[in-house]
Amino acid sequence: MSYLKATEDLYREAAITPDVGLCCTTNPIWQYPGLSVPKIMQEMNYGCGSTVSAQDLTGNPKVLYVGVGGGMELLQFAYFSRQKEGVIGVDVVDEMLEASRSNFKIAEQENPWFSSEFVKLLKGDALALPLDDQSVDVAAQNCLFNIFKEEDLRRAVSEMYRVLKPHGRLVISDPVCEIPLNDALREDDRLRALCISGSIPLSAYLKVLTDAGFGTIEVRARRLYRVLSPEHYPVEALIPIESVEVAAIKDPMPEDGPCIFTGKSAVYYGKEPHFDDGKGHVLIQNQPLAVCDKTAAALASEHPEIYISDSTWHYQGGGCC
Ligand SMILES: C[S@@+](CC[C@H](N)C(=O)[O-])C[C@H]1O[C@@H](n2cnc3c(N)ncnc32)[C@H](O)[C@@H]1O
Repeated sequence: MSYLKATEDLYREAAITPDVGLCCTTNPIWQYPGLSVPKIMQEMNYGCGSTVSAQDLTGNPKVLYVGVGGGMELLQFAYFSRQKEGVIGVDVVDEMLEASRSNFKIAEQENPWFSSEFVKLLKGDALALPLDDQSVDVAAQNCLFNIFKEEDLRRAVSEMYRVLKPHGRLVISDPVCEIPLNDALREDDRLRALCISGSIPLSAYLKVLTDAGFGTIEVRARRLYRVLSPEHYPVEALIPIESVEVAAIKDPMPEDGPCIFTGKSAVYYGKEPHFDDGKGHVLIQNQPLAVCDKTAAALASEHPEIYISDSTWHYQGGGCC
């Protein structure tokens, strides 16, 4: 049986019998004003972060969500869009689509503003999305892509790139791991499906996004997700796994490579009122400016009177690349 089939089987079970311990997150279930997330959706939160940010949802965007789970994040996206079929949910597992459909009915009872019509559910595969080219503004997935082996991961990301409009956003949350995982872990289909053993280092994960063509990347959150210990897993030493939240924006690729924001800021502390590098970066004396890693490296190497902070891994917008 292929790992993809094993994954479908695992989530078929998790659709029929909610498993509260399956995937987990240290961040809170977002409770926007007037939003009630049904208990069953919280129990079926199989994600590892959040992909829903108000900053991505201005201008009435069409949202695609791949791998619906219990439907919680689709409800959260619908909270912002509030229109018929404003959110499209795609999942390959019939039982998961049915479970989320039934959960949306409960959400209707708890949320006077919500109608199940706000979400259109489609049967489909992340590796061959049933959507036209350039048909959505925001595409999201939470804790699915980490399950995919490299070739499938590249395919899933290129499918998201294909269906996004120019300047559209891919918002994703997944586990990553800086320590190479051994073959016993990587080839364990069940652990992979459980989002335990498919993780790759953050830099490799981001490279898959930039290789697909996304010109701007924002690393918005990075936090501890799991620890694999020799008592519980086939490992020789403790292996921490983190989860990240990343936005990949379908901007044209700059000639000198992608702009990757990881939360670095620059401060000019020289004698002049401001510093201008002639490439679009103007730093007012002793005022922080968020910069992408490429610009941070260039400023640090050429201008000693500029201080560059470490990556916070919690970039929240602003600045220039
Ligand atoms: C780890 S769960 C995450 C669910 C949801 N995103 C959340 O955060 O709770 C993975 C989801 O992807 C679905 N899935 C598995 N393989 C898929 C595939 N090849 N294409 C689309 N969806 C898939 C599963 O049915 C399940 O709903």
